[in-house]
Amino acid sequence: MSDIEQSTTSSTTTAVAKPRLTVIGTGYLGATHAVCMALLGFEVLGVDVDSRKIEMLAAGEVPFYEPGLDAKLREALDSGRLRFGTDFAEAGVWGDVHFVCVGTPQSKDSHAADMVYVDAAFEKLARSISRKALIVGKSTVPIGTAARLTTLVRSVSPVGEELELAWNPEFLREGYAVKDTLHPDRLVFGVTSEWAELQLRASFHPIIEEGTPVVIADLATAELVKVAANSFLATKISYINAMAEVCEVVGADVAVLSTALGYDTRIGSRFLKPGLGFGGGCLPKDIRAFIHRAEELGAGPAVAFLREVDEINLRRRARTVDLIRELAGGSLEGVRVAAFGAAFKPNSDDIRDAPALDVARQLRTEGAIVTVYDPKANENARRTYGGLWYADSLAEAAQGADVVALLTEWQEFRDVDPDALGQLVNHRRIVDGRHALDADDYRSKGWEYRALGRPAQPRTVRLQVDERDDALVSV
Ligand code: UDX
Repeated sequence: MSDIEQSTTSSTTTAVAKPRLTVIGTGYLGATHAVCMALLGFEVLGVDVDSRKIEMLAAGEVPFYEPGLDAKLREALDSGRLRFGTDFAEAGVWGDVHFVCVGTPQSKDSHAADMVYVDAAFEKLARSISRKALIVGKSTVPIGTAARLTTLVRSVSPVGEELELAWNPEFLREGYAVKDTLHPDRLVFGVTSEWAELQLRASFHPIIEEGTPVVIADLATAELVKVAANSFLATKISYINAMAEVCEVVGADVAVLSTALGYDTRIGSRFLKPGLGFGGGCLPKDIRAFIHRAEELGAGPAVAFLREVDEINLRRRARTVDLIRELAGGSLEGVRVAAFGAAFKPNSDDIRDAPALDVARQLRTEGAIVTVYDPKANENARRTYGGLWYADSLAEAAQGADVVALLTEWQEFRDVDPDALGQLVNHRRIVDGRHALDADDYRSKGWEYRALGRPAQPRTVRLQVDERDDALVSV
């Protein structure tokens, strides 16, 4: 028998075989984690300070849009293993392993991560933990946070040193949250004792059984894995977008360049998609917080390049506005723009740091009349961004447009027939901010088509992939 199987709850040295799990913070990450752990067979209690959110979840309603999560939530509730509440004290007494999943947004007055929610959650929970237990941080935090919080929770908990802390970063992508939680590429456990490692192995037993690699790390490394991964992804996107800037100067085509680079298995094609760049609640704020923290720790020069990564990314938004202005004839004053997309990426209603809305806002500032349509994010956008018009359908947004701007690559926009779209607009002009459309098809239907990093005029050669040997050839 393994250490885990032999264990009992009463022991202070062995791990609990099937720990009772609490999930503190039921936002995007926490709600998904709570649902998935219940589906994997654990007893789970989800806790949040927001009673409206808790009422919705308890009633089987997901407070945000995530494909497939609502059905999984109902399945988990029906199993009888998942419940929700607002009482931290109950969680502290009931749970064996406590996952803290609260947010770390960018601070209002600096690029640092705002730690008030994380600190409050750890402290409040620890006060009511009166037997040996493990608190596991999942939030993305500045390096050194786990060590600092260990001292904090031990100083306020009745069990003192018996309370242990671990870090287990989360890599889930919006739009794939359930899949990424149930079948992650890897699990990272930042621990300071064998007991904590065993307790985490017990908590993820069904996932580990599937053969998922587990990386055991110290606390600082576990914290670093998350920001390093997001920084790498952001760097890869900005790299190809920097190449797009070069392409614009030399008349080359970044779409072809990206395809050719992607076939190099050392480089790979994922996160090499050029366009309007990255947004959302993670990548932008995480790289800024990383720079800030590295500077505090004296490692600023090591990540100074991330400032460029951020700047390249923001320049893509400005350049998209330039392209739209160029297509409109040099001025945006009174120009009707149909903005397709508001969410920071498709299959999400999340508008945090959304490139699409940043572009829409800049267009509006220059006097354009902007009508936004997003299949899922209209309501969130309307609440946050005044001054823009919102349409209930793609057709309504396109009606009478002088320029169409595709800003988030929803499938609905990819599927549209250029001719049918052409019947609605005032002028057949389109900026494909996400390289999502068939340029030749649009051009053949009389559209002026522009995309970042691609020549204004159609290519004279056509890109073709030779299926037999995967080589790229031009014909
Ligand atoms: C990201 C990380 O992928 C995830 O591991 C982490 O846990 C949270 O942050 P997410 O914010 O859901 O996930 O979005 P992601 O799919 O990574 O996309 C981020 C942004 O990059 C989007 O705005 C997307 O449009 C953009 N992007 C992505 C590109 O511009 N080009 C690409 O090739 C890929």
